[in-house]
Amino acid sequence: MPSTLRLGASPEDLYTAAELLRQGKLVSIPTETVYGLAADAASDDAVAGIYAAKGRPSFNPLIAHVSDLAMAERYADFPAEARLLAEAFWPGPLTIILPFREDARLSPVMTAGLKTVGLRVPDHALTHALIAAFDGALAAPSANISGRISPTEPSHVLEGLDGRIGAVIDGGPCDIGVESTIIAVDPDGTLRLLRPGGIAAAAVKAATGLTLSENTPSAGIEAPGQMTSHYAPVGTMRLNATQAEEDEILLGFGPVASAHNLSPTGNLAEAAANLFRMMHRLDVEGVKKIAVSPIPSEGIGLAINDRLKRAAAPRH
Ligand code: TXA
Ligand code: MG
Repeated sequence: MPSTLRLGASPEDLYTAAELLRQGKLVSIPTETVYGLAADAASDDAVAGIYAAKGRPSFNPLIAHVSDLAMAERYADFPAEARLLAEAFWPGPLTIILPFREDARLSPVMTAGLKTVGLRVPDHALTHALIAAFDGALAAPSANISGRISPTEPSHVLEGLDGRIGAVIDGGPCDIGVESTIIAVDPDGTLRLLRPGGIAAAAVKAATGLTLSENTPSAGIEAPGQMTSHYAPVGTMRLNATQAEEDEILLGFGPVASAHNLSPTGNLAEAAANLFRMMHRLDVEGVKKIAVSPIPSEGIGLAINDRLKRAAAPRH
């Protein structure tokens, strides 16, 4: 493939990006969570290209990105609970899993043969404009090589995928920095949390009155991408470290002395926004052993700890 185009916010660049997608090419898109690697969700070939570029296992389905609730309803019927969620949190870092409509124009490659689809309305002006111009759902996982650290800046995308994708749209660093919260809405109205993310369970309760059940292990196969080892940096990670050993670099949180501190003031939103960027930097610096300060498991801290646990897990 020729070298990857760097696109910006101009109307010409938006046009180019939409045209690449129509040709079945891959375009990395900015979102408020992490950068996505997008393709036409209706095209088997285009979607297959995502799996090939990332080295992603084909049993792991992709999220369909749409511009609003009305567009989402082309792909799935929204029961009352799902509608409440969408109205409260879209655009924003929430993916809703629902059975897809029979007439949904979605490639079975992107849904990995499941009967459900993950729908998300990202909160980023450039991507919103691109989806509207393309007028179809974009299948998009995070724009990293499978199993590696998710990208929160265009340079992270290019580190793994330069030359393997058509273009990356530079929309600046991602505001939130960890992936969307994934909630499955079951036919009986039960809401299951499949992945902690940018929206905490307490925020769901406060905004909608709805309670989330934890995903049970037996339902675990429904979140096929939630593999134990994921987000892996080159170095090893030791969690809940109150200090670094001599051969370790400390990835700090709160009032600890470290050149790499996720949030010196102990702000969890700031720590989430810095997490993947700092992990990328330690990777680039070739750091072999990383010790990580304890992070409180509340709010978005749950999502941070979920990603850290996977990053620290033994590799397969
Ligand atoms: O914030 C995000 O969600 C980012 C940005 C790019 O939108 N996307 C993202 O995609 O994190 P990805 O592919 O890295 O993670 C999607 C997760 C995977 O764990 C996948 O298994 C799960 O969503 N998933 C997708 N469709 C599903 C479905 N129908 N049922 C259950 N899990 C599903
Ligand atoms: Mg991912």
